[in-house]
Amino acid sequence: MTERKRILSGMRPTGRLHLGNLHGALDNWIQLQQQYECFFFVADWHALTTDYATPGQIRENTWEMVLDWLAAGLDPAQSTLFIQSDIKEHAELHLLLSMITPLPWLERNPTYKEQQQQLDQKDLSTYGFLGYPVLQAADIIIYRAHGVPVGKDQLPHVELTREIARRFNFMYEREVFPIPDALLTEVPVLPGLDGRKMSKSYGNCIFISEPEESIKDKISKMMTDPQRIRRNDPGDPEVCPVFAYHKLYSSPGQVADVAHGCRTAGIGCVECKQILMHNVLSRLGPIHERRLKLERETDRVREVVLTGNAAARKEAALTMAEVRKAVGMS
Ligand code: TRP
Ligand code: SF4
Repeated sequence: MTERKRILSGMRPTGRLHLGNLHGALDNWIQLQQQYECFFFVADWHALTTDYATPGQIRENTWEMVLDWLAAGLDPAQSTLFIQSDIKEHAELHLLLSMITPLPWLERNPTYKEQQQQLDQKDLSTYGFLGYPVLQAADIIIYRAHGVPVGKDQLPHVELTREIARRFNFMYEREVFPIPDALLTEVPVLPGLDGRKMSKSYGNCIFISEPEESIKDKISKMMTDPQRIRRNDPGDPEVCPVFAYHKLYSSPGQVADVAHGCRTAGIGCVECKQILMHNVLSRLGPIHERRLKLERETDRVREVVLTGNAAARKEAALTMAEVRKAVGMS
């Protein structure tokens, strides 16, 4: 077998995943499994950089997320699935990288300032939060990954990872780390129920594992084209979040029919939403089935993670042996 290129990505454990997560990242990971050697992990230490004062949810969120991963189709037979904090080598590499990372690189990181302002109810003037990208760099290069599938928001972190890896190789005169590339995933942003970006903090999400009745209820209350007030008013599908969902969930023929029907007032919003409900539920049906089954097989899920952890640990240990040699600490 030819050597497949290795990719790695992580998600912070935010608990149950929503449809935005499914289409924004998870679907892409699932596709990549066939082509690459994949490492996917739960970035629970990263969650701690912002939630250190209230860490109680992180464990439960980790398991909920792993269940969604498996239910959606991440396949432990193809990919290594693991939990960051179970691989202590990440912490060691983070420490060693912190020695060589110039402070200004971190201070000028755009997401650092942005997040500090956005999460202003939390005190993020901490050492750990400033070092967030150094830990992320350690996550990536400890597996000598070639590619990192991420969204646009993570590009500054991957860029910083490249700079840190280059600096390490240069400083210790060894090509210990390949320089990873970001694999940018261009995905249409799925709007939330109210038309804004789907986000837990806005309370406008549909969750992957949400029961059918609740999904129907949420879709029936979704925002539509605000100009379309009465049934006879023609609408503009391009400004309607319901139509954005049709583009993802409905057949090309249905999408065309709905668009035409909307513009000519030939279809009402209730009917339009019913078509959507049907398509969303048939797409999520198999995922729900798998998830229910997994919820009853906690031992198997644990086993998947323990196996993934062991495989990850083995790789990380190999890299760390090289790293310790390079820094004269072996
Ligand atoms: N920072 C990433 C996010 O918030 C999560 C993450 C942590 C990550 N370590 C990583 C992503 C390594 C890719 C590679 O989404
Ligand atoms: Fe939106 Fe469909 Fe109503 Fe048009 S008919 S406004 S696309 S819900």
